Amino acid sequence: FRIGVLVSGSGTNLQYIIDTIKQNKLDIKIEKVISDREAYALERAKKANIKTILVDRKIYKNKLSDKILEELGEDLDLIVLAGFLSILRGRILEVYKNRIINIHPSLIPSFCGEGMYGLKVHQAALDYGVKVSGCTVHIVDSGTDTGPIILQKTVPVYAEDTAETLQERIHQQEYIALEETIRLFAENRIKIEERKVYIK
Ligand code: GRF
Repeated sequence: FRIGVLVSGSGTNLQYIIDTIKQNKLDIKIEKVISDREAYALERAKKANIKTILVDRKIYKNKLSDKILEELGEDLDLIVLAGFLSILRGRILEVYKNRIINIHPSLIPSFCGEGMYGLKVHQAALDYGVKVSGCTVHIVDSGTDTGPIILQKTVPVYAEDTAETLQERIHQQEYIALEETIRLFAENRIKIEERKVYIK
């Protein structure tokens, strides 16, 4: 089971996948890691001897998605967006239909959509005063955070929380959620019909 991982940031989710594979807990191979900007995630991949590619969003602009597809090739089993901040458009969404997943650090449909990333997500949850938040792994479609939900993990939100403490609590759940989802795909246990995700 061969995957590609797209990143833009520090790459702790990527690191968790790398470590899980190393510990023989996940029987998959990361073929390529692609970033749309200079990012520490690329260093993590290099250290693990994974092929890395920088497809600079400022150079490729509206050709970014096509260039990423060209670099990935069309025969991977799954594409994982692990903190990838650009929006994928066009042919890649057809070629990899129902095979691109994203992790978002809130319980979708709350605190998501365009411009909702990083600490802003957690600040919005705190400002609203919700008592639970969490993370969502979903299929990527042509919208922002609109694709079918595969799984969600919850965490409590405390009045004492800052965006940073809430972010850290959710981050821990993201790792588990991503690992579980990738395993479900690798074991061919996910079926998607219309907008519904069935787990066998
Ligand atoms: C995570 O919070 C993820 O949910 C969001 O971007 C962040 C990436 O963190 N999409 P990292 O780069 O994996 O450390």
